Amino acid sequence: MTAETGNGAHQPADTTVRTEGADLLEPEDYSSTPGVLISFEGLDGSGKSTQLELLAEELRAAGVVVVTTREPGGTQVGEAVRTILLSPVHTEMVARTEALLYAAARAQLVEEVIRPALARGAVVLTDRFLDSSIAYQGFGRELGLDDVITLSVWATECLFPELTLYYHVSEEERLARSSEIVDRVEAESSKFFARVEAGYAHMAELHSHRFRVINATGTVGEVYEHTRAAVNEEFGWLTSAVDGGGRVVTGSSAASSAEDRLDEHGTI
Ligand code: TYD
Repeated sequence: MTAETGNGAHQPADTTVRTEGADLLEPEDYSSTPGVLISFEGLDGSGKSTQLELLAEELRAAGVVVVTTREPGGTQVGEAVRTILLSPVHTEMVARTEALLYAAARAQLVEEVIRPALARGAVVLTDRFLDSSIAYQGFGRELGLDDVITLSVWATECLFPELTLYYHVSEEERLARSSEIVDRVEAESSKFFARVEAGYAHMAELHSHRFRVINATGTVGEVYEHTRAAVNEEFGWLTSAVDGGGRVVTGSSAASSAEDRLDEHGTI
């Protein structure tokens, strides 16, 4: 898998917390899991949540069984943890507490929602997953890659996404898109977000087998063409896709694989 989709100019930035962590990066054997986990990543204002919704809608229309979720949250426990994490009141929260809480919400989500859905053969689209922890806590909070991965691997019993779509936009574009109401994380400095971006860039290189960097500058429709092309290239679920040059192409196994998924695994 290539590490770039569309015109995404992805420049790995320098960082002081860069480590290898390669020994902790063995993904699961996906052949033993009927479903597929796809994560949507990016900084606040990258437009990833809209892209997730558009993809969910189109996959469902194509007959694919889709489960959507988000982090932190997606379960009652997770949503309660989310309230603590994002409340602007808790300015005293230290980085290790933050990392543990994100991992706690993820553990609950994986056990309660994601693994059962994957076992039923669903396509699970998650708005953020472990790469958010690596980027925000590992790099943004400078806790380091290895410890944060170890924590997430423990929390999820080693579940990695099969495909990660990372939406990359320039800082100006991102700020222009961001809402005026900021949560505790969004209130961070631009230096913090530069480190977060460096974290994503590092993971995109280290895990190039599952990362696709998507140029998220442009209209929702233009970005969705990149989303669609990346997903179709990997899985061929959709009957037609728009390639990088904007032409409509046909995905050979799309219809049959969508039907297989529905027939074999039923509904959620
Ligand atoms: P949310 O409102 O869901 O933002 P977004 O729409 O950008 O996803 O808030 C989630 C915030 O939590 C976001 O700023 C990123 C942060 N976060 C982490 O710092 N670590 C994590 O592991 C996760 C999942 C999220």
